Amino acid sequence: MTEIKWGVIGGSGLYELLDDVEEVKISTPFGEPSDSLFAGEVGGRGVVFLPRHGRGHRVPPHRINYRANLWALRSLGVERVLAPSAVGGLRAEYGPGTLLVPDQFVDRTSGRVQTFYDGESLPGEGPDLPGGAEGVVHVSLADPYCPDGREAALAAARAHGWEPVDGGTLVVIEGPRFSTRAESRWFAENGWSVVGMTGHPEAVLARELALCYTPLCLVTDLDAGVERGDGVTMAEVFAEFSRNVDRLRSVLFTALERLSTRRDCACSRVLDGMGAA
Ligand code: ADE
Repeated sequence: MTEIKWGVIGGSGLYELLDDVEEVKISTPFGEPSDSLFAGEVGGRGVVFLPRHGRGHRVPPHRINYRANLWALRSLGVERVLAPSAVGGLRAEYGPGTLLVPDQFVDRTSGRVQTFYDGESLPGEGPDLPGGAEGVVHVSLADPYCPDGREAALAAARAHGWEPVDGGTLVVIEGPRFSTRAESRWFAENGWSVVGMTGHPEAVLARELALCYTPLCLVTDLDAGVERGDGVTMAEVFAEFSRNVDRLRSVLFTALERLSTRRDCACSRVLDGMGAA
């Protein structure tokens, strides 16, 4: 198998990404990932794909084992993760079909496990963590996303004639319900751009493993506070996602080809000095 450095966690409507894949089943010290992982190549580079909700969308956002998913990717050698997902637009100008690469998120989930570092050493079976990090670890999330990954995603979208929105805030709700109009208006009034259900704790856990993490948010609907109709429906989300899935796949492939194996960003160094004293 080609050495794997890149991973893609596919969102609603993206259950397959690569042709000619090898299915890899992985158990982690944190339990089972959402599904098998699928290892293949893009432009001669080893890439592994994980369907975030499992094939056939079996796992809802609040039941995803985010720790197992990130741990499984890293145990295969992944260093850089691209994370497409479906989101609702919180501004009229971010209508269905908009691709937004956020630079911030706000966590409105509740009760999701958001750390690998619970005050005890990590189970010994997994990969060694950079810096020998273990026990109590506080990572910086001031800038939660990889700058190189963001640049690659933005450039890839442009290369396919899809002008992306560069930056903005993704608010992550607990789900699985959609937001009320009041919640949605409040999100918009706070200046937040899009709303989704899976961006947290995925980005945090990636950072805790010193992985580069880049969200690509595909707007599938205008959220309840923006649109005048009956509110968001699941059918609308899936229909809009499938309308865009081919070009999203092309953008992901181009971004993967552009992402360097050399990591000059700070993501890889986030655990430096965090080893046990
Ligand atoms: N995913 C897709 N559309 C969404 C919305 N409006 N709210 C939350 N998650 C979403």
